[in-house]
Amino acid sequence: MKTVLSETAGGPETLVVREVDTPVAGPGQVLVAVRACSVNYPDALMIADRYQFKPPRPFAPGLEVAGVVEALGEGVAGLAVGDRVIALLSYGGMSEKVVVPADGCTPMPANMSFEHGASFIATFGTAYHALVQRGGVRPGQSLLVLGAGGGMGLAAVTLGKALGARVVAAASSQAKVDQAIALGAEAGVVYPGGPLDTEGRKALGALFKSAAGEAGFDLICDNVGGDYAEPALRSIAWGGRYLVVGFPAGIPALPLNLPLLKGCDVVGVLYGAYAQRDPEGNRQNVRALLDLYAAGKIAPHVSARYPLEAAADAIAELSSRRAIGKVVVTNG
Ligand SMILES: NC(=O)c1ccc[n+]([C@@H]2O[C@H](COP(=O)([O-])OP(=O)(O)OC[C@H]3O[C@@H](n4cnc5c(N)ncnc54)[C@H](OP(=O)(O)O)[C@@H]3O)[C@@H](O)[C@H]2O)c1
Repeated sequence: MKTVLSETAGGPETLVVREVDTPVAGPGQVLVAVRACSVNYPDALMIADRYQFKPPRPFAPGLEVAGVVEALGEGVAGLAVGDRVIALLSYGGMSEKVVVPADGCTPMPANMSFEHGASFIATFGTAYHALVQRGGVRPGQSLLVLGAGGGMGLAAVTLGKALGARVVAAASSQAKVDQAIALGAEAGVVYPGGPLDTEGRKALGALFKSAAGEAGFDLICDNVGGDYAEPALRSIAWGGRYLVVGFPAGIPALPLNLPLLKGCDVVGVLYGAYAQRDPEGNRQNVRALLDLYAAGKIAPHVSARYPLEAAADAIAELSSRRAIGKVVVTNG
């Protein structure tokens, strides 16, 4: 079978496509023929050795796949050959086939496409955990989403809207903001590409404050970090929650006088660790998300598709900050 391999650390141009032996499903595992694998920001970090988790080389990037069960390992119950499933992986999804634990597979609804399946749980699962468990979102609350045109960002926008929040989308281009508004944001803020000096951060703080109005934002979902974090935190409401999700723009250092002055919480979100520590809670979250999908209230926005041979271009599209929503690598 074909697979995309990171054999040396570096950018997407270091990836190679190789023929390797098809893996065999062991006890409790299934072999999945991958139809789609989404690109996630950690793919770019992982191949460059810049992610917290470093797989042994050579390895294939790819954290979320959707495909068809092709073989069952010993002792697998509850799944059958031919089932359509979504699977989250530590890495390895950009391959024609993957072996995954059977209990890590989520059956796909009949009406869900493979590209939607591969773009669903990593982003919407994180957004749900962020907004519901960590943010305690309630209908009518105001929610600012940073990086609102990215994979995480558009998931937070559509889910926030579905849960009754009034969403303001912030992103680095009008096209990204427009897409977020098309998916349910009430208003948008276009911020500069950065880096920002002191004056730039002040100006951005004023922009966020004017978008927030007198009361400030009840929730801020920060998928970006960097120079955007402090200006955003300045626009939070008294008692608000600032959700720390990711740092593509760099890890920010926040002045701790701000949480004091705002009486607000700065809250960490780490979906993978949550799902491991509370598997039943996570299963309930995924069920709630699939119900919202079935009701037509949420869906991934897939803007670009690449064949497996061009997986490097797919990752490059994300790391160059050009992508809107999800980019997907497809097989067959
Ligand atoms: N905490 C968790 O459990 C969890 C789970 C999933 C993902 N994440 C993290 O969430 C973040 C977003 O992931 P994603 O998959 O949604 O990524 P994505 O689709 O690439 O979106 C990231 C967004 O970050 C912004 N950005 C700012 N500076 C950037 C830069 N130098 N390079 C690239 N993008 C930049 C871009 O928006 P603008 O151009 O509009 O600024 C881009 O749309 C990542 O840091 C990821 O690791 C965390």
